[in-house]
Amino acid sequence: MNNRQLFLQHVAQTSDAPLALEIVKAEGMYMWDVNGKRYLDLIAGISVCNVGHCHPAVVKAIQEQAQQYMHLLVYGEFVQSPQVAFATLLTQHLPKQLDCVYFTNSGAEAVEGAMKLAKRFTGRSEIAAFNRSYHGSTQGALSILGDEYWRNAYRPLLPGIQHLEYNNFESLELITDKTAAVIAESVQAEGGVNVPQREWLHALRDKCTATGALLILDEIQCGFGRNGTLWAFEQFGIVPDVLLLGKALGGGMPLGAFISSHDIMWTLTNNPVLGHITTFGGHPVNCAAGRAGFQALLDQDLLKDVNAKGQLFVAQLKHPAIKSVRQLGLMIAVEFENFPLNKKIIDYCIDKGIVTDWFLFAAECMRIVPPLIITEEEIKWACSIICEAAEAATRA
Ligand SMILES: Cc1ncc(COP(=O)(O)O)c(C=O)c1O
Repeated sequence: MNNRQLFLQHVAQTSDAPLALEIVKAEGMYMWDVNGKRYLDLIAGISVCNVGHCHPAVVKAIQEQAQQYMHLLVYGEFVQSPQVAFATLLTQHLPKQLDCVYFTNSGAEAVEGAMKLAKRFTGRSEIAAFNRSYHGSTQGALSILGDEYWRNAYRPLLPGIQHLEYNNFESLELITDKTAAVIAESVQAEGGVNVPQREWLHALRDKCTATGALLILDEIQCGFGRNGTLWAFEQFGIVPDVLLLGKALGGGMPLGAFISSHDIMWTLTNNPVLGHITTFGGHPVNCAAGRAGFQALLDQDLLKDVNAKGQLFVAQLKHPAIKSVRQLGLMIAVEFENFPLNKKIIDYCIDKGIVTDWFLFAAECMRIVPPLIITEEEIKWACSIICEAAEAATRA
């Protein structure tokens, strides 16, 4: 059997139609398959490779840390300098009340940890989340996920979960003094790039403050410059009680985090002690990689061109088959009539050497969330291929 057949046989599948490209090398904006074909990456491993694939500073940090030490002990016992250095650097770039970082293995685990933290801190058990939000695939994260099709097969899920309408003022009335936390994406990603109104996020912040519910903002997908500022919440002028990070946090390595104030976080230390336990969370190699990636993002000043690059996509994506383009920075949803048409266009792009896909809750929308290092020429070329694909798919 060849590698593809072995993959289908021995690696657990989650769909009957995986992309199944066999990539042997990735660098910057590009991936190469086993036949030497080059692909421009328009999805950055789903908002992960913000500084590009295999950034030299990240690779170096991984190599150096791997030579020092890898796993030593479960989370929280030893002083591990890669964790300390990364937590310190992160908090230097966050509002002062977000000064304490719990490193996890993944985004979903950060969500789980934050939900537990909110229950402990408030002594309440209800959690509110939003329709069309995605927060991960573990049981707790699935319970708050905002789409019944994806939740239903796994019931019973967590009790006490309320789903509200995103960007809807009336819905906020359902947040009460029984609510432990409200969890929202600062910008909804898998819903197909839904940017909330500034006033609505302020009303949400105010309602949480008034009821004593913690506001948890999930920036696992929209953090790290994706929306044009380091953190998306900066653009809306609010600060959450808990911030969730993941994806780009590890610079290409698995890493998540929930971040809050030292006071709130302290509740995890008692009654019971060890309020959240992880063996590998905050792995030293991953923290070293994440710190190097974050430093590269800052040193290369990658944020400064994100908005202009996003706008260039919008300007270039002109075709009658494109119904709308929703965008904030380099998080872009290109809407077509339906999924079959979108899929045809995506397949054409992949054939031409451009990797893209669709959104979980907006299958009619093409996902464009490239590494932030994408150049003007690459954007123009990608858009010309997408328009060519739209023409071919609608003519056929
Ligand atoms: C907004 C958001 N939250 C949470 C998650 C879950 O992260 P992970 O897949 O690392 O568990 C994702 C993953 O796509 C996400 O997009």
